[in-house]
Amino acid sequence: MEHRTKFLLSEDELPCVWVNVLPSLREPMAMPLHPATGKPVSPDDLAPIFPMGLIEQEFSPKPEIDIPGEVLDIYRLWRPTPLYRARRLEAALDTPAHIYYKYEGVSPAGSHKPNTAVAQAYYNKQAGIRRLATETGAGQWGSALALACRMFGMDCTVYMVKVSYEQKPYRKMMMNAWGAEVYPSPSDKTNAGRAVLAEHPDSPGSLGIAISEAVEDAATHADTNYSLGSVLNHVLLHQTVIGQETKLQMQQAGEEPDVIIGCFGGGSSFGGIILPYFLDKLNGSPVRLMAVEPSACPTLTKGAFAYDFGDLAKMTPLIKMYTLGHDFVPPGIHAGGLRYHGAAPLASHLLHHGYLEARAYPQTPVFEAAVTFTRAEGILPAPESAHAIRAAIDEALAARREGRSRVIVFCLTGHGHFDLAAYDSYLSGKLQDFEYPDEEIARSIAALPAVG
Ligand SMILES: Cc1ncc(COP(=O)(O)O)c(C=O)c1O
Repeated sequence: MEHRTKFLLSEDELPCVWVNVLPSLREPMAMPLHPATGKPVSPDDLAPIFPMGLIEQEFSPKPEIDIPGEVLDIYRLWRPTPLYRARRLEAALDTPAHIYYKYEGVSPAGSHKPNTAVAQAYYNKQAGIRRLATETGAGQWGSALALACRMFGMDCTVYMVKVSYEQKPYRKMMMNAWGAEVYPSPSDKTNAGRAVLAEHPDSPGSLGIAISEAVEDAATHADTNYSLGSVLNHVLLHQTVIGQETKLQMQQAGEEPDVIIGCFGGGSSFGGIILPYFLDKLNGSPVRLMAVEPSACPTLTKGAFAYDFGDLAKMTPLIKMYTLGHDFVPPGIHAGGLRYHGAAPLASHLLHHGYLEARAYPQTPVFEAAVTFTRAEGILPAPESAHAIRAAIDEALAARREGRSRVIVFCLTGHGHFDLAAYDSYLSGKLQDFEYPDEEIARSIAALPAVG
């Protein structure tokens, strides 16, 4: 069909495994280290806050892991998600490039996050856990976990980065509707939160601080576990349903991607779309894999590849990753979900070994791309997702300059229906760009723990 716009899969084509690339890595990945002893963490070290089902997946040597039937039943509420050919965007850009986007905003929570939230709630429920505690930046992850806990009849407590809590009251209400409790972080509910408030009463919060609060909550309550929406291997693993579906859909389209683009916060959606393609790359495919981040939080493009803590209070294991330093508090840009000082160790490893590319953009050109996209394609993208759109548009414009086609695939991780204040700010010319000063980054990196 010449004008085919949507590439849809039937429910029977929903992937029934998650793809685990760990056993295929050519270079060994650095192990996470215990924060107190500096020795590699053992599964038992993680047991106070994670169920064994997820801990096993974190280190699994199996190339594929079966998706449990109860998880598949919930996935079927919105999966498989559509892949679109962005014909109207191509026309607007007058480019010979073919642009495709995988749309994860059709989930009930509005993003890719439920792909792992449902899996995590399932394994915790199996382990007899009654409540999950977590942090959320933009509110997308908190919404996803609130939804997933509801589906399995569990309680959910969310520590929401204060700047987002204030910018996005509707996300909080959505979490409340699914039955979750939501606190602005730093909060007075935990020692970690109280310590930050004592020093900086007006702290806008950060993911690093909110993680400390949620981990402390889980570690101090026997019936409660912690749940992380990104960064860890098992989270990227659960997201590989995205890349597996994309592959089938690109087969329908009869094209091979030249470049696959994803926005990058902690790296879960990016991992989800690229990891199945990374295996092809290991076998000689020339596909380019590109991560896009904000220049206000330039973890991959300006951070150090080093051991660091995942949180401010140094409660998490030390992980080797690209990092801006665990005490880095990024400015309150509108893509709240991309304001994390670190990056998935798996994605960091692949970037360090040359399998990935990374780019950073300020928020004004990102919103400009989001508006170009919504005016052509109709969907109003989340500001996080719009980072990938910016890079996809730039790739399409480069194709136009070169007078050559190229096939561009990007992950549209979510819709922006709760981000209208950010759009209003952009459209009324009030949005400001922020390039994090190099000296600040150098100061933060100089304070990294001395390991490895
Ligand atoms: C819509 C959306 N996209 C992307 C991200 C970034 O997270 P990750 O890099 O883990 O996919 C977030 C995080 O909150 C998000 O809400």
